[in-house]
Amino acid sequence: MTRTGMKRREFLRAAGAGALLAAAWADDLAAADEPQPPAPGKDDDLNIAFVGIGTQGRVLLASNCLKMADQRLRIRAICDIWGVRREAGVRLVRKYGHEARGYEDYREMLAGEKDLDAVIIATPDWTHAEIAVACLKAGKHVYCEKEMSNTLEGARSMVRAARQTGKLLQIGHQRRSNPRYLTALEYVRTHRALGRITNAYGQWNRFRGLRVPAPAAAAMPNAATIARHGYPGVEHLLNWRWYKRYSGGPIADLGSHQVDVFNWFLRAAPRAISAMSWRDPAQPSEWYTSVNAMYEWATTQAGREQIVQGFYQLLNTSSHGGYFETLIGDEGSMNLREFDGRMGLRREENVVVPDFERELDQWCVKNIKGFTTRLDGTISVKVPSGEESGRIYPLPFDPRNDRPVHWAHLVNFFSAVRNPKNVKLNCPADEGYHSAVSVLRVNDCLAAGGGRLEIKPEEYVVS
Ligand SMILES: NC(=O)c1ccc[n+]([C@@H]2O[C@H](COP(=O)([O-])OP(=O)(O)OC[C@H]3O[C@@H](n4cnc5c(N)ncnc54)[C@H](O)[C@@H]3O)[C@@H](O)[C@H]2O)c1
Repeated sequence: MTRTGMKRREFLRAAGAGALLAAAWADDLAAADEPQPPAPGKDDDLNIAFVGIGTQGRVLLASNCLKMADQRLRIRAICDIWGVRREAGVRLVRKYGHEARGYEDYREMLAGEKDLDAVIIATPDWTHAEIAVACLKAGKHVYCEKEMSNTLEGARSMVRAARQTGKLLQIGHQRRSNPRYLTALEYVRTHRALGRITNAYGQWNRFRGLRVPAPAAAAMPNAATIARHGYPGVEHLLNWRWYKRYSGGPIADLGSHQVDVFNWFLRAAPRAISAMSWRDPAQPSEWYTSVNAMYEWATTQAGREQIVQGFYQLLNTSSHGGYFETLIGDEGSMNLREFDGRMGLRREENVVVPDFERELDQWCVKNIKGFTTRLDGTISVKVPSGEESGRIYPLPFDPRNDRPVHWAHLVNFFSAVRNPKNVKLNCPADEGYHSAVSVLRVNDCLAAGGGRLEIKPEEYVVS
């Protein structure tokens, strides 16, 4: 019997009704099994709490925080209004040596856990502003999942609370810390590998919107408890993304990650949007099923103003092409992807070959099995790829950095909490707010018929 199998079985036996959640937790538990971090308890450990231990809370906890031995985290509290989940979370972290307590209400948690340094929030979007503001005002640093809020008013209150309290607020746009994206950014910014960037294209296509089925009877949340927290029934709690009251819709849920990448790479936020959407009656969501949004950024590149046009597509009817972001310039283009090594740089066939490209070519020859040089002496070699021409390279990446995708963003947060003078957050509140404006205004644009909607610079400023 493997050690992993043994641990999982022990956990399930102890879990009682929570065992019904076994399937959902199984992968995370396996992921959390190795390596076993040392038992917490040193004076300089960071005391942290989780609010919301659903799908994403579990990922942040089990696949990330429980394995970060070098971050010296002490998990003190697990808060969730859903009792079975909360108890399963508490059991899991106790098994790893953390003396955590469970709370149904974040207010009781803040009252009962005076020593907390930081809170990680992974509840539905409509609760972020209230919970994050309360945590900041209680003197805690906050890592809050995207979308920052389902309303701009809520997002602004978070920015203000972070400013007023001087506490850190990291928004969970984790690509901003992803080593793959940071490598890509270096090629774009330092080497100007794309030349003059003129276009951005992104998509998130998936087959059917995420719809969560009801759990077995014994694992159901308590109806009176969830009603007290604003959910009239379990359907609303499970499928909050499908309701306008709780979410900013698919463009906020998925598109925010990707539009945030464009804002970050372009060092600008959109100045105009137009959009079209479509609602599939077969998918009973209050939101649209698919949306196509056009964006316009006024950027400064090499000291000159440059308009960048963007197209963003989101489908809930087909997973065609999956999800990625592409930046296109007059010398090259680049594909960005969160999970795998399909990130690539394409250089136009006829552009001058600068030093960085020669070095990249040599790195690829040395490090990538079967890679045939794209440069032949001083002569460039065309890579046939349908009608696309040019020289295509994978970007250099150190496999030792290939951690779960939220890892580096959490580490950036914990490092900033420990050392705020020297470590800057990769997605502080103001940046998160720019992304919130960029996606939530798409909904306003659609409500007004989809025509060009100008976003004034002052809309991005929180006073
Ligand atoms: N960064 C990413 O890649 C990523 C991926 C998925 C989800 N998310 C974000 O994480 C958040 C959670 O999404 P999810 O998919 O885990 O949702 P989920 O429905 O699976 O989990 C939400 C959990 O929060 C609990 N909850 C609801 N209201 C609460 C309250 N007032 N107090 C305490 N607990 C409460 C629910 O009981 C549930 O366990 C969302 O903001 C989502 O956008 C981010």
